[in-house]
Amino acid sequence: MGFLSNHNYRIVAIPGEGIGPEVVEASLKILQHVAQIERFTLQVDYGWLGATAFEQFGSYFPEATAQLCDGADGIVFGAVSQGGLLELRKHFDFFCNLRPIASVNSLLHKSSLRPEKVQGLDILIIRELVSGIYFGPSGRSSDDQGTYGYHTMRYYDEEIRRIARKALQQAQNRRGLLTVAHKENALPHLPWTRLVREEARQFPDVVIEPMLVDNLAMLMVLNPQQFDVILAGNLFGDILSDIGGALVGSIGLLGSASLNADGFGLYEAIHGTAPDIAGLGIANPLGTLGACVLMLQQWGEVQAAQRIIKAQDRILAKGYRTADLSPQGEEILVNTETLVDLLIEELSIGQYSELGAIYA
Ligand code: IPM
Ligand code: MG
Repeated sequence: MGFLSNHNYRIVAIPGEGIGPEVVEASLKILQHVAQIERFTLQVDYGWLGATAFEQFGSYFPEATAQLCDGADGIVFGAVSQGGLLELRKHFDFFCNLRPIASVNSLLHKSSLRPEKVQGLDILIIRELVSGIYFGPSGRSSDDQGTYGYHTMRYYDEEIRRIARKALQQAQNRRGLLTVAHKENALPHLPWTRLVREEARQFPDVVIEPMLVDNLAMLMVLNPQQFDVILAGNLFGDILSDIGGALVGSIGLLGSASLNADGFGLYEAIHGTAPDIAGLGIANPLGTLGACVLMLQQWGEVQAAQRIIKAQDRILAKGYRTADLSPQGEEILVNTETLVDLLIEELSIGQYSELGAIYA
């Protein structure tokens, strides 16, 4: 795209609560800057979700927000503490949740593991996002033994097949290994292994590695470099992806994209509202920014995405760190605003040095 693009995009920003508004604002500032450099425009409409939506509209996921999102090119979301998010994901059928977990060279020593265990780490977790135990029959009831609650892990075969096809495509374009998280020794009626293998007939180059999810969790912390693409249902994918935060040094670094069959997407960090640091201006915006990078890639704005990745790598290599990365020694503690300023400055330098190269 780049010079040829001249595209006008419309996104809906849903800041939400806690640190949500801070990380969304920070990311949008960077996005607008890169849009200017790459010559596309970004119209931003603001939407409501969660507790703030409830206060205003009496609903955690108001109709007004749904309508605003209709026909947009993407949704950039911060965080909410309760209500709305699952409804939003379900409403637009964002079934395919991509959660990349890649180590950053200058942050290897921030990992919970020894640096050599995470060097070159590049895992893509693909999490089914609109079914499974999050959406199965649930409730509270009582019988002669007492009161009880229940949530049902239910998957239609076709729901497993469609996410399997997405995971197979991704694995085919990467290193060709697809690990399938399952729990068939205890939950035999959810035959992920068989269904994925059947879909895999169309992808002969992909190696399928079914793995009990408990064992998978252990291997992720013992030897994460062995994984390429990990496919998991909604609940298992939620749990496994937080391990990714420990591996790369902070959950604040991880972004995600949730796509529907049309390629329309919701882009959010994988962390939550972080109420302990909300309003202090010290949150790490790189998770949400990482999600925005996935949005740019989804649009085909690969040059813009690359610019942000490079600027981020350089700023981190210079030692700038938000508080979640507990800066030590030579490293420099910065707040959200300063990190954004540094990134914007770095993006501009990147731009001019490239122009220099063109005119040289
Ligand atoms: C995530 C979060 C959400 C989830 C919560 C906030 C409902 O943990 O996106 O990983 O479980 O999907
Ligand atoms: Mg989670």
